[in-house]
Amino acid sequence: MKVAVVGATGMVGEVMLKVLAERNFPITELVLVASERSVGKKLSYKGEEYSVVGLADAVASKPDIAIFSAGGDTSTKWAPKFAEAGTTVIDNSSAWRMDPTKKLVVPEINASELTKEDKIIANPNCSTIQLVMALAPLHNKYKMKRVVISTYQSVSGTGVKAVQQLENEIAGIQGEMAYPYPIGRNALPHCDVFLENGYTKEEMKLAREPQKILDDRTFSVTATAVRIPTAGGHSESVNVEFYNDFDLADVRKLLSETPGIVVQDNPDTNTYPMPIYAHDKDDVFVGRIRRDETQRHTLNMWIVSDNLRKGAATNAVQIAEFLVENDLV
Ligand SMILES: NC(=O)c1ccc[n+]([C@@H]2O[C@H](COP(=O)([O-])OP(=O)(O)OC[C@H]3O[C@@H](n4cnc5c(N)ncnc54)[C@H](OP(=O)(O)O)[C@@H]3O)[C@@H](O)[C@H]2O)c1
Repeated sequence: MKVAVVGATGMVGEVMLKVLAERNFPITELVLVASERSVGKKLSYKGEEYSVVGLADAVASKPDIAIFSAGGDTSTKWAPKFAEAGTTVIDNSSAWRMDPTKKLVVPEINASELTKEDKIIANPNCSTIQLVMALAPLHNKYKMKRVVISTYQSVSGTGVKAVQQLENEIAGIQGEMAYPYPIGRNALPHCDVFLENGYTKEEMKLAREPQKILDDRTFSVTATAVRIPTAGGHSESVNVEFYNDFDLADVRKLLSETPGIVVQDNPDTNTYPMPIYAHDKDDVFVGRIRRDETQRHTLNMWIVSDNLRKGAATNAVQIAEFLVENDLV
C-alpha cells in the first residue's frame, strides 16, 4: 500500500506513525504531509527519514490510502481531491462524520458496512469512540433509552498548542494560549466551540455520532464536555438508562468479553480506570460499574481511553487494516 499521512507533524499524526509501525501495516511507500509551514521538515518512520510534502504533491502521488488528521478545513477541501484521484481517505476530523453519504466507523461495531465505493470514511470523535465501544454490547442486550455523559478530557485532545500551554503554565512561562483561560489547576466546561443551542460542538458530537454508529435513533444522549489538565486520555462519567433490566454481574461479564474493552472494577483494591494507566494503550477501560439507585434499569460507569490511540490513530489504522484484509482498497 502507498499510504499518505496528512497532518503527520501533529499530535495525532505522530501517534499515527507509531501505530502504523507497531502494527506493521503493509506500507510499500509512505508520504508524509503537513501544511506549507512544514514542507521539507524531516520525520522518521521505522528508522528511515522522510521529508514532509505539501497536499498538492501528495494528491499527485496517488496514494492507495490517505489518513487525515489535519483539521476540518483541510479535510473539507482536500479529501475530495484525494478521492477523485482514486485514494481512499480515512478522516479524523469532524468534516464528514454526519454527512449521510459517508460511513462513520468504529471497526469493532460497524466495519462490515464498508464497501469499495466508500472513498471518504469518517473516524468518530475521540470521546465518542470510547463511549460507543462500551455502550454497543450493552445496547445490543438491554436496549438503551437515554445516556447522560460528562467528560473529563485531556489537553492532548486539543493538539500540540494546548499541550504546550499546559507545559508553559507548569514551567511558569508566558506563552501562546490554546484556551481562553489557564488550564493548569483548572477545569474548563468548554471543549470546541459554542453553538446556538448553548451546547459546545464536542457535546453535540457526543449526542449525534453514537446514533449514527449504532444505526439507531431510538435512544438519546445528552453531554457536558469538560477539559482538564491531564495528559494520557479522556475520562467519562456515564449514566445509561435501558428499556430492559440488567444484572450487574452480567454487565461486567459482557464488557469483559468484548474485544477492545478491559474491565477494571474492584472498590476493595481501589481498582478503577485512570488516564495515567490508559496512556499509550489501545483498549477502552471501564470501571465503577454500579446500579443507579434513583431510577429503574439504570447504570453508572466510568470509561477511560487514550484519545490519541483508540480515540484517533488506532481506530483509523484498524479501518485501514479492514479495507486491506477485505480487498476494499
Ligand atoms: N487530539 C486528539 O485527541 C484528536 C482525536 C481525534 C481526532 N482529532 C482530530 O485530528 C486532527 C488533528 O488534531 P491534532 O490534535 O493532531 O492537532 P495538531 O497537533 O494541532 O496537528 C495539526 C496537524 O494538521 C496539520 N495542518 C494544519 N493545517 C494544515 C493545512 N492547511 N494543510 C495541511 N496540514 C495542516 C499540521 O501541520 P503543521 O505542523 O505544518 O502546522 C499538523 O500536522 C483534528 O481534525 C482533530 O479534530 C484529534
